[in-house]
Amino acid sequence: MRRSILIDCDPGLDDAAAILTALGAADRLSLGAVTTVAGNVDLDAVTRNAAGLLALAGRTDVPLHAGCPRALFGAGERAGHVHGADGIGGVALSPGPAPSPEHAVQAIRRLARGGGVTIVAIGPLTNLALALVEEPAIATEIERLVIMGGVADGPGNVTDWAEFNFACDPEAARIVLESGLPTALFGLDVTRQAHVTPQRIAAFDALGTPAGKALARMLRAYQGERPRPVLHDPCTIAWLLQPDLFAGRRVRASVETANPAQRGRLMTTDDPQGPIELMTALDADGFFALLTQCVGGLRG
Ligand code: BDR
Ligand code: CA
Repeated sequence: MRRSILIDCDPGLDDAAAILTALGAADRLSLGAVTTVAGNVDLDAVTRNAAGLLALAGRTDVPLHAGCPRALFGAGERAGHVHGADGIGGVALSPGPAPSPEHAVQAIRRLARGGGVTIVAIGPLTNLALALVEEPAIATEIERLVIMGGVADGPGNVTDWAEFNFACDPEAARIVLESGLPTALFGLDVTRQAHVTPQRIAAFDALGTPAGKALARMLRAYQGERPRPVLHDPCTIAWLLQPDLFAGRRVRASVETANPAQRGRLMTTDDPQGPIELMTALDADGFFALLTQCVGGLRG
């Protein structure tokens, strides 16, 4: 049976890999919508990139909804130094579909209301938090959240404590993690194991398809001068497709919002009955083989 998903994102080079992987697994994942949120770069740019990725995959039929242009509080974070000023590493994409007039928060509420949808959130959690605040009843309708964000054991990638998506909008992350919804959480603990290597990039290039070649160009831009870049966001989609690539433990979790030095810090308590599965281990070879196979299945 195909699983119904919605991807809430801020593409973003690793978001791009996640979106292409999901679209390449259309036999197992039914993508009901892509919603965007300001994060890696501003809202117009991430929405333009999401549209271009849908066009690249030959899936302009997937509805696209632009969401929140800023965090609930504060200025948020931006990561143009990682993803390029345009958020997509300077890789030219065809213009994709225009976003729907419906706001992302409304689209999330509408799709959640139907029941049975899995929400994959790979950017700041502003849209999702607002959807849960505006319409709390959707919490009983959403099947599962699959989130990239936070770090439980180890330093953050924005501050010593905080990972980018949670640092960008700590209040939103706290609302979502305290919702009690069943959640698979992919923090830096696990995503730091998904190393992008020249060989793994070459495997995408060798697909010889427009999507494979474009993703290889994006990953070369992502690699830049950095010694060991890692691919965070596609862990979420890979887990939906092949959960045995991952291992984790059950926790309850919240996010620091008060202490200025630690805003966005993920705080967990081990609890076998906890609603959140915190992922800790990854079979990286299996992960990249899965991504390559999915992207290879795209028509684009
Ligand atoms: C997260 O931050 C963003 O830069 C990436 O797209 C990913 O979602 C990793 O910390
Ligand atoms: Ca992202």
